[in-house]
Amino acid sequence: MRHLMSPLDLSVKELDDLLDLANDIENNPKKYAHACEGKKLATCFYEPSTRTRLSFEAAMLNLGGSVLGFSSADSSSAAKGESVSDTIRVISCYADICAMRHPKEGAPLVASQKSTIPVINAGDGGHQHPTQTLTDLLTIRSLKGKLDHMTIGLCGDLKFGRTVHSLINALIRYPGIRFILISPEELRIPDYIREDVLRKNNIPFEEVERLDDAMPNLDILYMTRVQRERFFNEEDYIRLKDYYVLTKQKLSLAKDDMYVLHPLPRVNEISVEVDDDPRAAYFKQAQYGVYVRMALILTLLELA
Ligand code: NCD
Repeated sequence: MRHLMSPLDLSVKELDDLLDLANDIENNPKKYAHACEGKKLATCFYEPSTRTRLSFEAAMLNLGGSVLGFSSADSSSAAKGESVSDTIRVISCYADICAMRHPKEGAPLVASQKSTIPVINAGDGGHQHPTQTLTDLLTIRSLKGKLDHMTIGLCGDLKFGRTVHSLINALIRYPGIRFILISPEELRIPDYIREDVLRKNNIPFEEVERLDDAMPNLDILYMTRVQRERFFNEEDYIRLKDYYVLTKQKLSLAKDDMYVLHPLPRVNEISVEVDDDPRAAYFKQAQYGVYVRMALILTLLELA
């Protein structure tokens, strides 16, 4: 039985197969409409979510399966003090596969160790968010036709942004990837990513503060929200929240075939005037999130 805790749980070959399956689902949805009949997905979300939870549910429903779950810690027995280990043992009796989001780093991993059904990490604190990364990779590959030889700009809250951590981990396995890490001093990527992931693997990267300077060199710009819920004080959040705002004027510095991605939710970091630019790919990205989660459910249930 397999779980998904980090994008590295899949080899590059397995990842390619999964993205191929997602593209096939996109092109032939009818073929998969009954693939999960009789199967149940549990969504155990101890932290707020719109896209991740609903795209998991949409994915399972599109496959002909059913869904159950909870969408906040308050509405689960966590409010009574139940551990994730106990919760998952019980959920294992009710469902065939589980997607779990938790504010504590490592909670889905702990759950997976006691689970008798596949567990998918749907975001654990500021740590990892592997299914967002699958979504990002499918989006990049579908739009650019490749995952190698590109300059990727990651902008915003690189410290607490778990989507950024997972995406860096996944992309370094492709040749010719270079990162420009754009953030204020206080929100730079964690040391363990800089040292153990980037430096250790000799991945070219720069850390800069100005988005404008980086813009002309980028093939992908991955914008992120400043993660308010992970700040220790509101003053720091207020000072940093509008540090970057992508406007039409800033985008005019970019290549014509650069794409803007964002895991969403957006707060202020992308001006709505950018939404109509053909390079704005973030809503398309949300659609790809459903296809890739369908492919993941099929793969982990060994129905692919
Ligand atoms: C991201 C997350 O939850 O980490 N959102 C998502 O899953 N689409 C990004 C964020 O909340 O800023």
